[in-house]
Amino acid sequence: MYTTLKEVTSKAEQLNYTVGAFNAHNLEMLPDMIRAAKEQGSPIIIQTSIDTAKYIGHENFVAVCKSMATKEMVDVVLHLDHARNFDDIKEAIDKGYTSVMFDGSHLPLKENIMKTRAVVEYAHKHGVSVEGELGTIGGTEEGIHVGEDDKVYTNPKDAIEFVKATKVDALAIAIGTNHGQYKSKTQVNIPLLREIDAVVDVPLVIHGGTGVNEQDIHELINNGIRKFNVGTELLVAWTRKAKETFEETKETKSLRHNIIPCNQAVKEVVKHKISIFRNIEDRTLILR
Ligand code: 13P
Repeated sequence: MYTTLKEVTSKAEQLNYTVGAFNAHNLEMLPDMIRAAKEQGSPIIIQTSIDTAKYIGHENFVAVCKSMATKEMVDVVLHLDHARNFDDIKEAIDKGYTSVMFDGSHLPLKENIMKTRAVVEYAHKHGVSVEGELGTIGGTEEGIHVGEDDKVYTNPKDAIEFVKATKVDALAIAIGTNHGQYKSKTQVNIPLLREIDAVVDVPLVIHGGTGVNEQDIHELINNGIRKFNVGTELLVAWTRKAKETFEETKETKSLRHNIIPCNQAVKEVVKHKISIFRNIEDRTLILR
C-alpha cells in the first residue's frame, strides 16, 4: 500500500522496530530499494531531497512508488527530506508525496514552532504526515554545513513544547549523529535519547544513519527510534559499483549491464539494514 509515515511508524511502535528511510539518489535504484523491502517483509520509507525530486520529477517518484507498492504488496511511504521552504513542501504534497519534513532546526524555537505548525496544518488537511526537527545534526545537508562546534543537542524540555504546539507526527532529534559520516562511526548519546523518549509521545527519527555503529541500533530502537535515515551508504555503494562496471564495459554494450549491478549493490545495503531494523537479535530467524 502507498501509505503515510504516521501509519508505518505507529505499527513499528506497537512491535518495537524501526522503519528504514532510504534516500533515493536517482530513479534507477528505486525499484530495487522497494524489492529489498518486499524480500524482507518490511515497510519502507523512500525519501528524496528537494533537488533530487526536481531532477527526476516529483510525479515520477510518486508514480513508481505507487505502482510498486500495489504490485509488490509493500507498504511504501514517499517522504520529502529536509525542506526549509513552505513552497517546496506544498509542491511535494500537491504532487502526491505522503510525508514531508520541515526542518526549522536552524531557527529560534518559537519561530521553528510557528513555521512547523503552518506546515502541519496544510499537510494534515491533505492526509500527509510531517516530521519536524529540534537541535542540529552535524555534517552537510542541502549544501549547508554544520561543524562540530555548531552542533546543538536536542533539549528534552523544548521537545515537549515543540511536539505539543506543532502536532508533528515524528520528531528528528540531535543526539550526536552527522550527515554524510561514512568512514568513521559516531558516539550516540543514549542517555539523552532516553530522556527525550520519556517525555514525548511521537516517534523519534535518527538522521545520519550511515555513521551509526550497527551495534548501537538495537539500543536506539529500544528507546523510541521509529524512523532511521540512511543515505550516504547507498550513494557510495551505487557509485563504487558504477566506477567498476563503466570501467570494464565496452561503450557499445547496453547500459543495463553497467546499471543493474549498481542497483543490486544498493539492494543488498537496504536488505542488510532492514534485517537489523527489525530488531530481532537472532537475524538468522528472519533470513531463513
Ligand atoms: P546519511 O547520508 O549520513 O546516512 O544521512 C541520511 C539522512 O539523515 C538524510 O536526512
